[in-house]
Amino acid sequence: MVGGSRGIGAALAVGLSKAGATVTATGRSPQASGLDESVIYCSCDATKENQVKGVIQEIVERSKTLDILVYAAGIARPTQGDGQQLSGFSQIIDINLKGAYLCNLLASQQMAAGSGGSIINVTSIGAYQGFPNNPAYSASKGGLRIMSKSLAMDFANDGIRINNLAPGYIRTEMTEGSYKDPFRRQKRVERMITPRWGQPDDLVGATIFLASDASSYITGQDILVDGGWTAKGLS
Ligand SMILES: NC(=O)c1ccc[n+]([C@@H]2O[C@H](COP(=O)([O-])OP(=O)(O)OC[C@H]3O[C@@H](n4cnc5c(N)ncnc54)[C@H](OP(=O)(O)O)[C@@H]3O)[C@@H](O)[C@H]2O)c1
Repeated sequence: MVGGSRGIGAALAVGLSKAGATVTATGRSPQASGLDESVIYCSCDATKENQVKGVIQEIVERSKTLDILVYAAGIARPTQGDGQQLSGFSQIIDINLKGAYLCNLLASQQMAAGSGGSIINVTSIGAYQGFPNNPAYSASKGGLRIMSKSLAMDFANDGIRINNLAPGYIRTEMTEGSYKDPFRRQKRVERMITPRWGQPDDLVGATIFLASDASSYITGQDILVDGGWTAKGLS
């Protein structure tokens, strides 16, 4: 679980563990929140090749195999400046897209050496529609969405499936600003068919499905878990 130190990734890590997987979660933070003791946590920057290789090696030494990769690491805003300046734009692309490519590539090499696997890339409704004031985020998620489909073709002969999981508005640290603002919070709900913000646990079922053999004939696809936000026409 890349990006499992909190929020959606932490919930998915615990959910996969409860479903029977041996899960290692990663993030840059020295410590995670929201995990239980069944999940192993390692500090790792998803954009650093040596660190990612090190975690994969630890997983293989411990479990002999790597079967599932979930790439949930992501930032919506850069640490300096904004996503419309080149440095901010690049930071978002580095983590949300290039880090995903690095992890997909290294994990797939390990999966190919075993008996294949399932990769789930966490995209966003921002991969489907334009949003104001943050072109880097939409570009990163739109790029990730199509990258998954392309890699699904490239890795198919190694028995690897790759799918996208696209959350809508889920209450986490990333969305706390818009959730706490009553106007923005309500504006988002008005476009949902299921009229409530999602919780990270709302994504667990689709993740277990995509990770398991129950989805063995599904690859290169997107599952949107957005309360119908992208499906709704008139409010
Ligand atoms: N919340 C939503 O409504 C929503 C909607 C659509 C899509 N998403 C996507 O869902 C994913 C999870 O978001 P969230 O809402 O759970 O946000 P969050 O609470 O801010 O969590 C983001 C996670 O990404 C990790 N991360 C960031 N940069 C990293 C790096 N370089 N290397 C490793 N891990 C890194 C963070 O860990 P560290 O800080 O410890 O590195 C953290 O675990 C993101 O990809 C986000 O774009 C969220």
